[in-house]
Amino acid sequence: MTQPKVAQSGVGRAEACANIALAKYWGKSPRGDNLTAVPSLSLTLDGLRTRTEVRFSDDLIADAASLDGRSVTGRPMERVCALLDRVRATSGERRRAVVTSFNDFPTAAGLASSASGFAALALAATRAAGAQSSRESLSALARQSSASAARSLFGGFVELGAEVESAAPVAPADHWDLAMLVAVIEAGPKPVASTGGMVHTAATSPLYDAWVADAPRLFGEVKRAVLDRNFALLSEAMEQSTLTMHATMLAARPPILYLRGATLDCLEELRRWRNDGSELAFTMDAGPNVKVLTPRVQADALAARLADLPGVTRVIRCEPGPEARLLSTEGELATASVLPSDPLRHQGTGEAP
Ligand code: DP6
Repeated sequence: MTQPKVAQSGVGRAEACANIALAKYWGKSPRGDNLTAVPSLSLTLDGLRTRTEVRFSDDLIADAASLDGRSVTGRPMERVCALLDRVRATSGERRRAVVTSFNDFPTAAGLASSASGFAALALAATRAAGAQSSRESLSALARQSSASAARSLFGGFVELGAEVESAAPVAPADHWDLAMLVAVIEAGPKPVASTGGMVHTAATSPLYDAWVADAPRLFGEVKRAVLDRNFALLSEAMEQSTLTMHATMLAARPPILYLRGATLDCLEELRRWRNDGSELAFTMDAGPNVKVLTPRVQADALAARLADLPGVTRVIRCEPGPEARLLSTEGELATASVLPSDPLRHQGTGEAP
């Protein structure tokens, strides 16, 4: 990333949405630099946003960061510092920074926030350092921290090719009237973080090579289904991508099992609803929560049914979301810190009743 300098204020603020992969990434390329071994395709989601301020200052001897008012430490802080170091290495900025970040969704919902978090951080830090950067370069910067974050620089449907530096848009958010319902089964930290989980899977699962070999076919089907707005093909390819990824982890030694009994009960119900005529497609990431993609007209009814399932603690309704953007005022950042008093009824993100 070589950028000409622009006016250097030392402060940058940005907002990015989370994304959920429809064709999954699980595995690092042997080429390193956090390049992915398989291509992936995701949908950026409105309603799951991270807002971040980066402020470089002469008064600091070390970088510091907070998320929703709590100090960031350990491995997550190392990843933040690594991104800031990359920005310092390619700009005139030498000072340390304070990073202040807010998730617009309840952190306790157990949803991955690294995608929106590192996308917002890449954009805010680059602006704070007074560097100009293309969206592709920002996506590559975010990818080096967390590959799924590369996709959150863009809105709508987004792809990240295998061993490709940056993500690229496939279709805009208004391309298809879909909604994504997140059925939260369990909140809290993952038993195995995805970075370590995928390294372990590659090292010990006899199914890993088959996953890497087949993922481009699944990605190609998902992409074709998205471009053609073919929901039947999308649900088949998307669910096979999810289940092949989880099968590959299950065959690791020791196995990695993110799914719970309630996850499988939910899938069973979804199958019944589909047989009764509902259009839906499920996916699960590195955790037990089930994400259900459905035509927007069916979303309210489906959200209410999901919320009634035993084992589902809440349902968050999301629409296709926009690309990451700069925030111009401190006020815009602050609005994100205002969470409803009862986080179990988070109407602000379109949660089902
Ligand atoms: C299951 O992007 O969190 O959500 O690059 O090591 O930070 P790192 O991994 P991460 O992995 C995401 C895995 C996934 C599938 C996906 O989003 O494609």
